[in-house]
Amino acid sequence: MFFSRLELDRDKSRALYLQVADHLRQRIESGDLASETRLPASRVLAKQLGVNRVTVVNAYAELEAEGLVTTRVGSGTYVTGPHQSHAPDEPPPIPVRLGSSQPRRHWDAGHMMTEMMRLARQPGVISFAAGTPASEFIPVNEFRRAINDVLRRDGAEALQYEEAAGYFPLRDSIAELLQAQAIEVKASDILITAGCQQAVDITLRVLARSEHSALVVEEPCYLGLLDLLSSRRITPVGVPMDEQGLRVDQLEQIILRHRPSLIYVTPNFHNPTGITMPLGRRQALLEIAARYGVPILEDTTYDELYYDHQPLPTLKSLDTAGIVFQAGGFSKTLVPGIRIGYLVAPSQLQERLVATKQTTDILTSPLNQRALHAYLESGHFPIHLKTVRDAYRTRRDAMLAAMQQHFPLEACWRCPAGGIYLWVEMPQHGPTATELYLTAINYNVAFSIGSVFSAGGYFAHALRLNFAGCPPDEIEEGIRRLGKAWKELLARSNTLVEPRPASVHIL
Ligand SMILES: Cc1ncc(COP(=O)(O)O)c(C=O)c1O
Repeated sequence: MFFSRLELDRDKSRALYLQVADHLRQRIESGDLASETRLPASRVLAKQLGVNRVTVVNAYAELEAEGLVTTRVGSGTYVTGPHQSHAPDEPPPIPVRLGSSQPRRHWDAGHMMTEMMRLARQPGVISFAAGTPASEFIPVNEFRRAINDVLRRDGAEALQYEEAAGYFPLRDSIAELLQAQAIEVKASDILITAGCQQAVDITLRVLARSEHSALVVEEPCYLGLLDLLSSRRITPVGVPMDEQGLRVDQLEQIILRHRPSLIYVTPNFHNPTGITMPLGRRQALLEIAARYGVPILEDTTYDELYYDHQPLPTLKSLDTAGIVFQAGGFSKTLVPGIRIGYLVAPSQLQERLVATKQTTDILTSPLNQRALHAYLESGHFPIHLKTVRDAYRTRRDAMLAAMQQHFPLEACWRCPAGGIYLWVEMPQHGPTATELYLTAINYNVAFSIGSVFSAGGYFAHALRLNFAGCPPDEIEEGIRRLGKAWKELLARSNTLVEPRPASVHIL
């Protein structure tokens, strides 16, 4: 029998699919299962092991993500061996392994990110690393006034428990903002959450409840989502991106293979790449998702930060099949610290989502909700948005100009039409982003390394730079230091590093 040596621990100290994957990995790596060995069909193996077929499907998916097996449509799953050679149109191989597959890589990526953020916060460091908006534009005085007004007006009411779905007048104000974007929504359809992150989390809790769930993500993708998936042991299935965002042409095959519970996308000003998905691709995405009945979670965190033209219609506004969940918030546009976001969901799920919110943290701070409502009603928000858009556009342009001057000729980037990030791909044959980070920190400049944003550990040569957080003169200085660090590293590593063959650009 294929699995005569496998004893599964049904006490669930480790998920069954991971146990199956562990066993296969060990046999592949030891050479017991040679390259080109055809693995048993998932149904057959599931029967042999006495487990659900999904367990085997997920185990194979796990190994496929690690490059140890490959699925050939209509033929089966084959061992590629420990040294897989990639077809030229696949994502590049994983030059920096952030750890073994146990525990899953995001814990390692998250840990690495925490350490890098700690270094980035040291005095004197110009940091392009964090995802924070500029502190100088947070409207402190307006919020002080709003909080005082609310306490004077509502007294203890503002400090009491209230409905888990949120403070109704705030839900109403948010509904108005969304109606202006052609989204048909009522106040009662809106769930107030603790930031956009919780809106995403609650959606996952309702739609991807089993450990065996798979979720489609962009490759690369928002790190906070990868961390959430990792903590829930949900498998992220990365779909490559091109300059128009998620490669919808690859989606159908992925849906058929992985049966995902959800597709998560950020169509506007994507984190980390800054890419915007054009209208045609949005429609194609909706069409495929509706055809297979897979819900979409649309993250609109950066939508209001547009610099060149009004944002395109959201997936939610184009959704005629009732499959789009929309998560948004005020963290990047206004103020992260009050922790207010929202979720708009198909109405039949509203009750379950509210119940999940209640179980998670009972409710979002009533004082903060009322203060935000007072602020939105004061009419300052559109003025504030114009101020930050103007400032961030100037900062984006300052960073682009500095990169033009100080970065190597072979580095690639594109101008994002909004958001707060620039994604830069350094030459594949040169030092990795991690190596650059370790040199750059000595020059007192920091950024985020690309591989932490990847479900598959790709993008070892990519950097994410936040252009919004520093004034233009600091941006110029920071990029100059980064250019110097690159040159120093290159001079050092030329004698140490064998050139690697160039691999294909994903973006
Ligand atoms: C795409 C995306 N979604 C959600 C969040 C979390 O936002 P919030 O602070 O509103 O929870 C972030 C923060 O970086 C983000 O980049």
